[in-house]
Amino acid sequence: MCGIVGYVGLARKTKSVLYEGLKRLEYRGYDSAGICYIDGNKNTVIKSEGKLENLNAKLNKIEINSPIGIGHTRWATHGKPSELNAHPHSTGPISVVHNGIVENFYELKNELEQKGAKFYSDTDTEVISQLIFYFINDGKSFEDSVIATFDKIQGSYAVAVLNADEPDKIIATRRFSPLVIAKNDDELFLASDIPAILPYSNEIIFLEDNDFAVLKKNSIEFYDNKKNKVERKSKKINWDPVMIEKAGYRHYMLKEIHEQPRAVFDTIRGRFSDDFETVIFNDFDENLIKDVSRISITACGTSYHASLIGKYMLESISRINTQVELASEFKYREPVLDSNSLVIAVSQSGETADTSEALLEAKKSGVKTLGITNVELSKISRESDFVINTKAGPEIGVASTKAFTTQVVVFYMLSIYLGLVRKVIDKKAAKKLIKDAVAVSKIIQKSLKLDDEIKELSKDFYSYKNFIYLGRGINYPIALEGALKLKEISYIHAEGYAAGEMKHGPIALIDENMPVVFIAPDDEIYYKKLLANFEEIKARGGRIIFITSSSGSLEILGEGDRKIQIPKCSNLLSPLITAIPVQFLAYHIANRLGTDIDQPRNLAKVVTVE
Ligand code: AGP
Repeated sequence: MCGIVGYVGLARKTKSVLYEGLKRLEYRGYDSAGICYIDGNKNTVIKSEGKLENLNAKLNKIEINSPIGIGHTRWATHGKPSELNAHPHSTGPISVVHNGIVENFYELKNELEQKGAKFYSDTDTEVISQLIFYFINDGKSFEDSVIATFDKIQGSYAVAVLNADEPDKIIATRRFSPLVIAKNDDELFLASDIPAILPYSNEIIFLEDNDFAVLKKNSIEFYDNKKNKVERKSKKINWDPVMIEKAGYRHYMLKEIHEQPRAVFDTIRGRFSDDFETVIFNDFDENLIKDVSRISITACGTSYHASLIGKYMLESISRINTQVELASEFKYREPVLDSNSLVIAVSQSGETADTSEALLEAKKSGVKTLGITNVELSKISRESDFVINTKAGPEIGVASTKAFTTQVVVFYMLSIYLGLVRKVIDKKAAKKLIKDAVAVSKIIQKSLKLDDEIKELSKDFYSYKNFIYLGRGINYPIALEGALKLKEISYIHAEGYAAGEMKHGPIALIDENMPVVFIAPDDEIYYKKLLANFEEIKARGGRIIFITSSSGSLEILGEGDRKIQIPKCSNLLSPLITAIPVQFLAYHIANRLGTDIDQPRNLAKVVTVE
């Protein structure tokens, strides 16, 4: 999510290598950015909140003649987006940029504070510069201080460090976060992602976990964490930069489908107490929220489908009367809202005009508002009384995938939170629900294995002109979402229905030219009913794709029908699993049809018009 760049050399202007590199990392998402360079024996840091343009405006006003520098774009994790919290972070002569999370940040910070260190930011990164400086003051060399620091740090990181007292070198290290070096004669480039530095050289060195690299203008040395020298050879990379940004996936959408276990995990990370008995939403004022007796959710498109799932969760877990309404309708309907209503605006981008307008309209009634968005500084985040950020990371594909699953998991956490606040569930019940949430990333990971199977299956289905998706209960919104995904990227007409509604009209559409996708996890109430709906479709010649976690045999499946076996999961979290095959199905059908998957015709990622 964050991006790192670094440069040492005389061949180019440090300022432009750093800025251009950050620009190429911009698509990953950011809320602030900064650079540090060494001039003489002084480390100068320039930072800005918001768009990279803000940083550029500052850089344009100065001349930088330094041959060495590091830069960073930040996607806030610890500490809100602000200039103060932006990287690089400096302690004395030491300046640091960091991707990742220092998990033992509080303990280390306490330890350092007891020794007299003064912290200025809310970030976990500042402990890194503080620790390195501490070890240097303790008499260790720069290299030894960096190694000693990362000996103490737990978590994931990619880091670059400058020391104004040794102005000819950058020290870089990583664990679980990527870091690469590109080399030319007399200059070296460092980055978290290849696209940032690929225009300068395709001779790339990949740092391995726990490597320490010391980069000087015309030399580079590698050490392990015991300071033994190690050898790292460069590889010639012949990818085009766009391909690399997609981490080898053909499309952003496919990459983002595969990122869902990580995105869901990041979204729940840090939001449960250590004993798994409570949900932590730091931004909430419990007193303001405890009297809420009615929730109105407003959203568009995929975010609307996530909200429909949210309604099931909120009503089932926290027993709050919940309504969901399309934002484009909500605004003009004069909804009845009272002082105990909470209005929730859900939006990946946080900028969708329909949703933000609906939110502003709701605010006129004086109700409390909550924004659920994936972009921290977005309009909806700014306008809402409370905010819960999903941590999907930048979503580039127009068809929303990972933002959807992270929204669903936020609703799940919110339902537990409100259930506890309202005392309709006890800590024991919360613990059971929380444990299911903690386990769900791994189950999503398992369902990603369906990729190849669904690619194969799509061969038999891509030439149909219409599709119906059916689901019931908490998986009815997945039928809607599956149909939306197929429509938007393959341009095939598709409809989602609540399966019980078929007999009231849509069943007239069924014949051998109408594939029907069943979303049928093995639950106590709906599975048997879906089997009955299945029989009704079969009797009318429909062709079926049956997505189920039931391992029971399905004699009724005919020759052209297909079963997609998904892993089992608790009923309330099952939409996180059933979403995966419908995303793959839409993707692979569209891919066979050769459509522009990441930027389908007529659609925009962020719809800023009403
Ligand atoms: C989903 O795949 C869409 N492209 C679209 O429906 C989207 O969900 C909708 O425009 C809302 O966007 P938002 O979540 O950024 O508000």
